[in-house]
Amino acid sequence: MMNHSDADDASSTPLPRTHLCDMLDCRLPLILAGMGGVARSELVAAVSEAGGFGFLGMVREPLALIEREVRAVRDRTAARFGVNLIPAGTSAELLDQQVQCCVDLQVPVVGLFWDVNHAVVARLKAADITVVHQVGSVAQALQAQSAGVDAFIVQGVEAGGHVSGRQPLDALLAAVLAVVDVPVAAAGGISTGEQVAQLMTQGAQAAVLGTALLATQESFAHDFHKQRVVRARADDTVLTEDFHINWPAHAAVRVLRNSVTQGQHGDPFTQARRVIGEEEGRPIYLFSTDSPLRSMSGDFEPMALYAGRGVDAIDSIPTAAQRMASIMQSAQTHWRMLHRPEVEVSSPVCYAPAFERERNEALIAQLNELLEAERAGVRVTVQTLAQVSDPATRQLVEAIHHDEVQWCVMLLHAIRDMGGTTSPRTGAFFQKAMAIENVAERLAFLNRGQGWVAKRVAELLERVEDPALHKNLTRMLDSHKENLTRVNEHLALE
Ligand SMILES: Cc1cc2nc3c(=O)[nH]c(=O)nc-3n(C[C@H](O)[C@H](O)[C@H](O)COP(=O)(O)O)c2cc1C
Repeated sequence: MMNHSDADDASSTPLPRTHLCDMLDCRLPLILAGMGGVARSELVAAVSEAGGFGFLGMVREPLALIEREVRAVRDRTAARFGVNLIPAGTSAELLDQQVQCCVDLQVPVVGLFWDVNHAVVARLKAADITVVHQVGSVAQALQAQSAGVDAFIVQGVEAGGHVSGRQPLDALLAAVLAVVDVPVAAAGGISTGEQVAQLMTQGAQAAVLGTALLATQESFAHDFHKQRVVRARADDTVLTEDFHINWPAHAAVRVLRNSVTQGQHGDPFTQARRVIGEEEGRPIYLFSTDSPLRSMSGDFEPMALYAGRGVDAIDSIPTAAQRMASIMQSAQTHWRMLHRPEVEVSSPVCYAPAFERERNEALIAQLNELLEAERAGVRVTVQTLAQVSDPATRQLVEAIHHDEVQWCVMLLHAIRDMGGTTSPRTGAFFQKAMAIENVAERLAFLNRGQGWVAKRVAELLERVEDPALHKNLTRMLDSHKENLTRVNEHLALE
């Protein structure tokens, strides 16, 4: 067992212990991303032993390596950890064996990424394994939720490695929190305690660290990669599809700019394969998704040097426990600053007249009713998009989806600002709408729902005194009226 005194300083954190920490059984709200190649047993054990939660990055790895690494973590620590797999990036046969291997080894948690694979989630859940899915959009989060996952990692576009969505972390986190009802962790460009405190204030239940833990002594990344991360700045990172061999098409990665991203090796999609390195007899090809590892030799400069936009704050290669302790220490300081209790002579809530409190509660209930309705709208639009190919209809449904997400986020914040509890429910409208098979008829029904929301918002506006909420509800009303007209015009053309 290793010495965990470094991270013990962080145990006095005033950050709340979250439901996700309970679910994963970790003391600190820090999760090591399941980085393929990089997050091997030494790093996973160091992170879990220091109080965080480590995922072994086992994408496309053979069973013997998974077995060896799982045993190696267990030899080093009694703390819990998980295994990360990527169904879409793995052949069906190997994936089937990997899932069985996790079941046989009684791995407690499996992390998944990229396309949602319902069958894999179902198999893991049937074996009593906790499933955490990383997602890059609201639509993916809803798919993963319907597959039955236990928690999400929301990945912002700032992330290093494969990047599934294009939204910045803040915006995506808010949107996903508005529509799902399982715990959510945040990933993408996180390397400081200030970010951790802010993201947790916004509702994330843990921060996921990739690049920040790649640049540690225990990571399996080659020293060349670690040193490049230490020297880099956020603008040295770039999203590119140039590194594509081994992966499904059109998969973007965030890497440090190098000779490949600068085009010095020509078009990555038209050339014959060229070997630029070697790992225990396995050739490493130019334009492949392999990043330099301790076990590799060759020309590292043109390889995929994954790094997130959090590199600015990474300027050394400490142990994982040291990096976690310093992030936690600063997270505590920032959490305290963000959550300093306000000193009041008398509490307006306690001394407010009973009728004011009742009015407040009635308003919160009405906002929650709208939140449930908008959430239903988000889910209807996501599922409808999956069935529609006509570009004009897609564009219309996408626009409505975008608006409904925005109003969910606004309502969520408004309810919280008033000291209320947000409803986790989705309106019954969702089931009713999805029972309508014909898309045009469903859109007409969706419009009836939008009309209902618009009417309620108009009624509410007569009673809302708070100027900020009044303004937001007015915008919400206007956007619903616009969408009602757009859908009616679209349906009239059909
Ligand atoms: C070197 C590297 C390899 C990665 N490999 C995987 C992987 O195999 N599976 C996965 O789910 N995510 C992988 N990711 C993405 C992480 O899960 C996570 O989203 C990302 O690291 C967060 O951004 P950050 O690196 O800025 O902290 C990888 C990221 C990096 C940097």
